Amino acid sequence: MAQAYITVQVLLLLATAIPISCSYSMRASEVFVTRGSVAVLPCVMSSSSQHPTAVIWKRIIEGEERTVWRRDRSGLEFRAVGQAPQAHCPHPNFGNSDFSLHIQGTTEDDSGMYRCEVEGQNIKNVMLHVVKVSFTPAEVFEGDRLTLTCSITPQPLAKTTKWELNGSPIASRSGIQTYTIDKVSQKDAGTWSCLIRNKQTEANASTSLQVKGILVPKDNSEVVYAQLGSSVTLPCIFSSELLFNSSSWNRVSKTSNLPAVLPSSFNISSNPRVSPCSSMRLVKSAYIESVQDGDEGTYRCSGEVEGGNGKRVEVERSIQLITAQVLSSNKNGKMTLTCRISSTSQVTDYEWIHVEYSVNDTQIFTSVQKSTSKVLSVQKEKQFGEWVCRFYNKQQLLGNATYQPHIMSGLEGKQQSTSTNKVVLIIGMCFLVLLLVLILLQLYKNHRRRKMIFQYPAMETIVHLAANEREFRGRVKEREKTQIGACGENPKSDLV
Ligand SMILES: *[C@@H]1O[C@H](CO)[C@@H](O)[C@H](O)[C@H]1NC(C)=O
Ligand SMILES: *[C@@H]1O[C@H](CO)[C@@H](O)[C@H](O)[C@H]1NC(C)=O
Ligand SMILES: *[C@@H]1O[C@H](CO)[C@@H](O)[C@H](O)[C@H]1NC(C)=O
Repeated sequence: MAQAYITVQVLLLLATAIPISCSYSMRASEVFVTRGSVAVLPCVMSSSSQHPTAVIWKRIIEGEERTVWRRDRSGLEFRAVGQAPQAHCPHPNFGNSDFSLHIQGTTEDDSGMYRCEVEGQNIKNVMLHVVKVSFTPAEVFEGDRLTLTCSITPQPLAKTTKWELNGSPIASRSGIQTYTIDKVSQKDAGTWSCLIRNKQTEANASTSLQVKGILVPKDNSEVVYAQLGSSVTLPCIFSSELLFNSSSWNRVSKTSNLPAVLPSSFNISSNPRVSPCSSMRLVKSAYIESVQDGDEGTYRCSGEVEGGNGKRVEVERSIQLITAQVLSSNKNGKMTLTCRISSTSQVTDYEWIHVEYSVNDTQIFTSVQKSTSKVLSVQKEKQFGEWVCRFYNKQQLLGNATYQPHIMSGLEGKQQSTSTNKVVLIIGMCFLVLLLVLILLQLYKNHRRRKMIFQYPAMETIVHLAANEREFRGRVKEREKTQIGACGENPKSDLV
């Protein structure tokens, strides 16, 4: 009998002890919220209560309770004056016994301990931590020293913090709430996140960092591949307003410190494919209409950017242009194609693709050879087809070069132009010589004819003279005859 009494007493004690432990010694749940975003302080009841229910959200500041938001049984809602005016409990959630408090535009002032009291239910305590990621200086230029800070108000007792840039973890000493970069580059731009974790919860606060300078390319490792004869764009896009006429392009000479001559079709920001409205003032990319043999090398884009506070920083980028072409050679009736790339330091693999045109004029690509060899021996039946040489590094496709027999013959024609020129020259010379000979011949003929003409008049005169002489003599004789024969008889032969 006594045994049974004691058991009942113990049960009673337990029954009273449970509500006490729940209402007073219950640990607060922790909520981490990024500054400026919506904080949701959870207060979800397990057993659905009768509707409507009285709910009070209180804030505990220095041991004092202040009502933030209240709803009584009649359904009327009250909001504290001057106290977190952006705080409320959304109605649609009440049906699910969810009385979570939503705070809009959370600031550090909103941080601290909150308490949710629902009629006939256990009290819930919620600790609100406001997380803010910030950086100094406020305006970051390439080359600056940058410090990122992840501040949590109030500081939680136990937590770990980690940094992430654009979703990738940054190796830093965990637990340290600041992260310093000595020389900022464009690679440091993006979304910086501070990840906070403790036993209960995980939080992620982010901020976006823009680094003033040249946005594209991000660094000096930019390599652009172009097939000879094709057009190419060397990118150079500035982050902000450039100082007037401060941007320029030049070409780095391999042999001297002076800049080398830019290719003839080198144009700044006049790529017809770039729409003119897209912030032209910031896009200073260069465009080469037709890449020629010898254009390969390093090009440099530079300019002076100005910040909001008048700070000026000189920035520049080097871009390497690598040219590619397919050369063909014919030896003993066997055609060989060679993929010639001006710098193969990054190239690891070559892929040869045969291109055919189907009836409906679509291209059909057939991969024929993929290896580390840049040379392809072409089978006889495919000698007249089109070929593409694709080149790769370990990770990705770098570029391609096309061999089109009809176009290539033109290109080769160009390469053989010197010999062709010689032939033309020789033919021209022969023609000229022939012409000269003909002219000389004509001249000689003319000369001969003239000589003949001169000869004849000379003879004529001689003949003439001879004839005249003869006639004269004859007449003289005749006169003498008549003078002797008919003296004084017929004196009418005085005619000469
Ligand atoms: C943290 O937030 C950023 C930005 O919203 C996101 O890119 C990143 O993946 C998040 N990280 C984790 C671990 O959730
Ligand atoms: C062209 O022909 C090929 C097969 O030869 C076919 O796969 C493709 O869909 C056709 N394309 C069009 C646009 O008709
Ligand atoms: C070759 O490269 C150009 C530009 O990168 C690309 O548009 C084209 O599709 C490529 N051709 C082949 C056959 O891969």
